[in-house]
Amino acid sequence: MLRKFFSSTARVPETSAIPRHIAIIMDGNGRWAKKRMLPRVAGHQRGVERVRDVIQACIEHGVEYLTLFAFSSENWRRPKEEVSKLMELFVMALEREVDKLHSNNIRLKVVGDLKQFSPQLQELIREGETLTAGNDRLVLTIAANYGGRWDILNAMNRWLEANPGARQIDEAGLTEFLSMAYAPEPDLFIRTGGEQRISNYLIWQLAYTELYFTDTLWPDFGAKSLEQAIAWYQKRERRFGRTSEQLLRH
Ligand code: IPE
Ligand code: IPE
Ligand code: MG
Repeated sequence: MLRKFFSSTARVPETSAIPRHIAIIMDGNGRWAKKRMLPRVAGHQRGVERVRDVIQACIEHGVEYLTLFAFSSENWRRPKEEVSKLMELFVMALEREVDKLHSNNIRLKVVGDLKQFSPQLQELIREGETLTAGNDRLVLTIAANYGGRWDILNAMNRWLEANPGARQIDEAGLTEFLSMAYAPEPDLFIRTGGEQRISNYLIWQLAYTELYFTDTLWPDFGAKSLEQAIAWYQKRERRFGRTSEQLLRH
């Protein structure tokens, strides 16, 4: 059973600890393809291959939760052909990879507003989640048709349904209904592709996350790049509001 987390900021993790939860915005597929005079979809295809390497590297380093932004609620604004290619790739990746995830003891979760996906895709997601529900080596979450604002509003609406007549929501009430209530908040956020923005990703959960931006385009991001990001993280001193001296006393 996945346990519920309230806030991960109550306790300061050891400096040099491996991040328990890494959340990534896999950006730069289009530019990678453009540089090679290839269609954008070639970049997305190559991007799927990098996902495999990064999952493997996370397992080797003992990361417990990996969350990948695959499609944002704003990505529907892209040209129709690109959106449908991305949906095809998502279907193919699920068809090909779910058994492998399962045999590697990886639990798959997909968060986002899934109602807008085709019935076939929704079914594949349900099957993948059910098959891998008992796995506990790594929790791999794919954020698909996900938006941080959607997540917060959805949590509020679900809380209101569960608490009819109530007039005030508190932090524990809200976080219980967020789509990633089963995971601690991300320790390390990585965005590839050079942009330094959050793009409506996990906006609630990233409140105290260490933010790492790299110019490397996602199709070029491999195990070595992940190790560099983890090494950077291990040098950060997380304080959650306290002073540096307070931390040294422990
Ligand atoms: C990220 O790469 C993948 C998705 C958003 C699905 P992009 O497609 O955004 O690549 P760039 O930013 O155009 O290079
Ligand atoms: C964010 O990338 C979403 C994903 C990687 C799935 P975008 O490339 O869509 O982000 P913006 O719109 O440029 O900020
Ligand atoms: Mg982009």
